[in-house]
Amino acid sequence: MSTTLFKLQREHLVHLQSAYATLLADHQLDSLAIYSGHASDHFADDHAASFQTYGHFMHWVGLADVQHSWLMIQPEKRPQLYLYAPADFWHLPTRLPEEPWVAEFDIHLCSDKVAPSLAGKAAIIGDIERLPASTLQSLNAECQPATIVHALDELRLLKTPYEIACLREANRLAIAGHQAAQAAFIGASGELDIQLAYLAASRQRESSVPYQNIIGLNQHAGVLHYQHYDLKAPKQRYSLLVDAGRRFRGYCADITRAYAGPDAPAAFGELVAAMHGLKDELVKGVAPGVSFVALHEQMHHHLAEILIAHELFQGTVEQAVAEGVTRAFCPHGLGHSLGLQVHDVAGLRHPDGTPAPAPENHPALRLTRTLRPGMVVTIEPGLYFIDMLLEPLRNSSLPINWPLIDQLSPCGGIRIEDNVAVTESGFDNLTP
Ligand code: GLY
Ligand code: MN
Ligand code: MN
Repeated sequence: MSTTLFKLQREHLVHLQSAYATLLADHQLDSLAIYSGHASDHFADDHAASFQTYGHFMHWVGLADVQHSWLMIQPEKRPQLYLYAPADFWHLPTRLPEEPWVAEFDIHLCSDKVAPSLAGKAAIIGDIERLPASTLQSLNAECQPATIVHALDELRLLKTPYEIACLREANRLAIAGHQAAQAAFIGASGELDIQLAYLAASRQRESSVPYQNIIGLNQHAGVLHYQHYDLKAPKQRYSLLVDAGRRFRGYCADITRAYAGPDAPAAFGELVAAMHGLKDELVKGVAPGVSFVALHEQMHHHLAEILIAHELFQGTVEQAVAEGVTRAFCPHGLGHSLGLQVHDVAGLRHPDGTPAPAPENHPALRLTRTLRPGMVVTIEPGLYFIDMLLEPLRNSSLPINWPLIDQLSPCGGIRIEDNVAVTESGFDNLTP
């Protein structure tokens, strides 16, 4: 571990200690227990699906795969980690990383799934619903107090320098995967082989990706969360969209790139270039005090300009936005908060924890906050040819260039996504 990261992690822990102490004092609590969560086995089987540790637990230890474990926080005391470490010859015993947090905690290795005994007035948070009722009763604590969870979500929204360093490293590792994916596409690989090239170059196994990689060739590039990997390469190669990440110390990269293939019409390659330009323009708009909803609306405005410049729409910018044309081409939001979860917490709340829902005409937007230094967001404009959304416009009198859309439709769509930190004076693009 580099000395810089070492120092930053210690400072991150000091920051958490102090913020938790204030929060516990405000709520007149003596202790807070955070449950890691655990995976569920498939029905009638003894294998489980992939798992992600509860975010507020990860905030302290940065491990995304800890299960059946507890963390107890008390003001002025060292954090107590009850780490499930069964005597088990089926699996490799639980190992601790060589990171400063290990020396800052009292670590109790537990051979059984036990809950800690809580001191004084206590609360517990985490995915506790599937814990045995007897465990919850024995804890004798307030479960999941909403005001505490919202305050901790708010704490996670603003990243420490340690967290930004981790997100930057996650991006660096993910970009190596994206370069390999592009090379595999140039080499005429199919979706599964592009995925395998991505995993190899970004040095990760499939069960540890922060979200299922989206690797779509041709029309699959227009399926927003396309979830398969075709085994065979298609004969025609119009396009590739890769939306793929990487974790580093729990922190997630979430990067998308789109490419025109050898069989794409020239207009598609020009649109890919225009969408890179739009992403760059929107990244430059990231700064403290900026409303993310306003930035999202700016995306629609610029998207309309692109549709007009590339002759997909022959009306005005105002008409394209007002009549929902840009929304049919881009039905998702401009981006979201990013951190220990890909779609991180507190994006749709005011600082006091009250709901700040997405505007009615942009229901898919996941972040309605005013940007502040320390936030990390994705900026991910898209432009897709999705029949289900475009079909209703065919019966309208809107000046849409249907022959060109039909020509571009086999290319599926485009999304370009970077991860951007808000700084005191503007932005820091973490995606190299
Ligand atoms: N990878 C999912 C997203 O971009 O939000
Ligand atoms: Mn993404
Ligand atoms: Mn994203």
